[in-house]
Amino acid sequence: MDITIRPAMDADADECGRICYEGFRAVNERHGFPAIFPSAEIAARRVAGFIRHPAVFAIVAASHGDGRIVGFNFLSERDPIRAIGPIVIDPAVQERGIGRRLMEAALDRAHGARGVRLLQEAYNVQSLSLYAVLGFEARELFVVMAGAPTSTPPPPDWQIRPLTEADMQECASLHGRIHGYPRTNELRDALATGTPIVAIRGERVRAYMASPANWLANHGVGETEEDVRALLLGATRIIKDPLSFLLPIRRAALFRWCLAQGLRTIRPMMLMTIGEYRDPREVYFPSVLY
Ligand SMILES: CC(C)(COP(=O)(O)OP(=O)(O)OC[C@H]1O[C@@H](n2cnc3c(N)ncnc32)[C@H](O)[C@@H]1OP(=O)(O)O)[C@@H](O)C(=O)NCCC(=O)NCCS
Repeated sequence: MDITIRPAMDADADECGRICYEGFRAVNERHGFPAIFPSAEIAARRVAGFIRHPAVFAIVAASHGDGRIVGFNFLSERDPIRAIGPIVIDPAVQERGIGRRLMEAALDRAHGARGVRLLQEAYNVQSLSLYAVLGFEARELFVVMAGAPTSTPPPPDWQIRPLTEADMQECASLHGRIHGYPRTNELRDALATGTPIVAIRGERVRAYMASPANWLANHGVGETEEDVRALLLGATRIIKDPLSFLLPIRRAALFRWCLAQGLRTIRPMMLMTIGEYRDPREVYFPSVLY
């Protein structure tokens, strides 16, 4: 199929939202998983946020004949590690090379960056194969966990509260120590639009989560599993919706603790990377990007 790749515009958001909703719904239903986006409107809102964002490279594939949009892709350039996604192709025209073209365009744009990352739905053999062919390496398996922990609050020496601008520096250095690169601009976005949460003990930030009720945007870090348990127990008392986040399943004790707290396992996701990668020894939650 002949297509042109061009920058996405505000006016494309509704059509991209429809493709996003239908594209994910098709693959989710095929494998018996719940839809990632509950409606085309909610998908369009997320897509519109990326199209408008000055540090997100947003592109669509338009059909040569009538200019109809048949797919889109995003590259987040907010911080030194670049992140791809979501990428979605209209289900009517998948497996005709459009996804590959949109991925190549994003990777061209990211050329020279320290690293490029994404998370894919681990059961999706199409996306897994496409990304592997393009040079991505599978690094770690996660599960989306959702629910409200049922235990009593963390002990009184913990202070769990909404993150403020005054915490940014400390959160940035905690993230830097754990991952070896900063992610401060994205955390600032989370502070502007949502309710990130910090866990403090002994006057030191031990853990934080960027978007506790929305796993798509909820990256976070913690020095130890105990810190993360305190963060989750405190966050659920501040956030009225159920918590949702991506848990690295190799954290077996933390995984079991989440299950014992009544959280449900929703879907498996795989982190894939190109370029710089250091396996973090501390606890971390990626967003759907990295
Ligand atoms: C994943 C997605 C973006 C791929 O787009 P697409 O246009 O269908 O993919 P393409 O035709 O460009 O490329 C698919 C590649 O994967 C390969 N592939 C697909 N299934 C495969 C399989 N089971 N085994 C091996 N290779 C496979 C194809 O052969 C092709 O490789 P090639 O370019 O070397 O020929 C598209 O299927 C989609 O939108 N899915 C729904 C939303 C989604 O899951 N997005 C990804 C989020 S992580």
